[in-house]
Amino acid sequence: CGIVGYIGPKEAVPVLFEGLSRLEYRGYDSAGVAFLEEGGLKVLKKEGKLSALGEKLNGCSFCARVGIGHTRWATHGRPSDENAHPHVDCGGRLAVVHNGIIENYLSLKEWLQAEGHVFRSQTDTEVLPHLIEHYYNGDLVGAVLKAVSRLEGSFAIAVISSREPDRIVAVRQDSPLVVGLGEGENFLASDIPALLKHTRRVYILDDGEVAVLEPDRVRVMDRSGREVGKEARLVNWKADQAEKGGYDHFMLKEIYEQPKALRDTLSGRISADGTRVVLDEVSLTPEEIRTLKRIYITACGTAYHAGLVGKYILERLVRLPVEVDIASEFRYRHPIIEPGTLVMVISQSGETADTLAALREARRQGARVIAVTNVVGSSVSREADDVIYTWAGPEIAVASTKAYTTQLVAMYLFALYLAAERKTAEPGQIRELLLGLKKLADKAQSILDNTVEIKDFAGEFATCKDLFFIGRGLDYAVALEGSLKLKEISYIHAEAYAAGELKHGTLALIEEKVPVVALATQVSLFDKMIGNIQEVNARGASVLALAMQGLKEVEKVAGKVVYIPETNPVLAPVLTVIPLQLLAYHTAVARGCDVDKPRNLAKSVTVE
Ligand code: G6P
Repeated sequence: CGIVGYIGPKEAVPVLFEGLSRLEYRGYDSAGVAFLEEGGLKVLKKEGKLSALGEKLNGCSFCARVGIGHTRWATHGRPSDENAHPHVDCGGRLAVVHNGIIENYLSLKEWLQAEGHVFRSQTDTEVLPHLIEHYYNGDLVGAVLKAVSRLEGSFAIAVISSREPDRIVAVRQDSPLVVGLGEGENFLASDIPALLKHTRRVYILDDGEVAVLEPDRVRVMDRSGREVGKEARLVNWKADQAEKGGYDHFMLKEIYEQPKALRDTLSGRISADGTRVVLDEVSLTPEEIRTLKRIYITACGTAYHAGLVGKYILERLVRLPVEVDIASEFRYRHPIIEPGTLVMVISQSGETADTLAALREARRQGARVIAVTNVVGSSVSREADDVIYTWAGPEIAVASTKAYTTQLVAMYLFALYLAAERKTAEPGQIRELLLGLKKLADKAQSILDNTVEIKDFAGEFATCKDLFFIGRGLDYAVALEGSLKLKEISYIHAEAYAAGELKHGTLALIEEKVPVVALATQVSLFDKMIGNIQEVNARGASVLALAMQGLKEVEKVAGKVVYIPETNPVLAPVLTVIPLQLLAYHTAVARGCDVDKPRNLAKSVTVE
């Protein structure tokens, strides 16, 4: 879900609506705003995408100077007008928006109902306005503090009240919240892109902090009400980075931003003579690196797939056992963390609740944690021991693209950094891979300059019901990501399989004309892969192969072939995934899907 807030001299409602439009990727089951006008509280909310709320607001004129807004991704209670935020108290005087989950809401609700409070929705959030109403006796901040002390779970909340019209009270606990600092006006948002149009000076709230926004000042305090000295940060993202800039969709824009994102992520991280990785942000000592025994990588979704590539790379170059876990599994499966265990978490947003929980569990058990994230100041970045930032810029489309390829680059850099210290790779091999990394951006560009064929293939895929992706080694890891991309945005059922595993069961699913995307970029596995392609051919599959330039043999077994520029096969995933992203994108467009906002999904999931 997404939260916005505004207090200042402007008309609040348009500011809130504009902020929400920047956060739509956070959820789009319903949206709403609450504001104070002519001494009273007004709430407008609507099930469906933000445009539905927009229609409701259209033609109305407002004069509010303070308000809060929300875009929802349903957890408790299905998407509906009643379940949309903001939620209000019985007296209709205060309104609350909330991200996260209140785990003890049922017992609180029963108690409040017994006290005479009448609930209108099925949400966990609605306990909040009633709780605050219960505790209110002339001091909104005090009432909010008392109310949140009763809550278990994760939350970011914003509250306004017609009885104290010159402030917004916001609290953060395990769900992100950022205050944007303006001149004579202040802003609130769950994510930075909603603020960029107005200001780049922000307070990133920490867990347990409470912010009181007034037009001319922002006070930040702890949960006991004591003011804390907060330092403003300057965000280096620019407003136009969060705009579509002439592209039909954010996803396409972000796919095309990859060459720049790759260059930015490498920038300053390879020594001038091209022989070594410079990662000053990693504080492991040479001794700690040499005595490493095991690495866990944990993440969700696309970031998890980047972790799978990371495993191959680290095992190959650093010769350490690496396990990759989905964060929601890692957290609960009692991982073995001993001296010499390093845990890596990967997260574009740095706010994914499952990933954050895994990070905390790892640290609780004494592991050293290194994070790969794209958002400076995010929870993951603040709680990890060290952070390797990907410099992809804001990623807005729900389906992740440039975050993934830059996460791969971060994994290559880190692997080569460790390999040099542990002497598990020859200096010559390190130099060659570093040179290869530097050339990736141009090679990515050449794929992007030539997409006619891929569009044609996407047109063919648009009508199919099932699709398979196969590959071996690193190609298998990329196949998983290619398959996820297609599923997420085109809703075509797709499966990725290790090509060698097909004959152990999955081959049963291959029938006449079933499309199979076969990844064949790994030179050492190429002959085996040709054999696997023949297996599916023999069952009538229609094969589109993705091969490395030069591996011409593939044309003998695949009806259609897309080539990626030649590179060291270890680095190939960064390039291989690009045609797969484009394939997913154009297939989804051909099917008329809402590419940037696929049904039921959200960009950043801050609930476990
Ligand atoms: C959500 C998004 C995915 C993303 C995953 C992890 O589920 O829909 O696209 O890969 O979260 O996000 P993170 O920000 O932690 O990388």
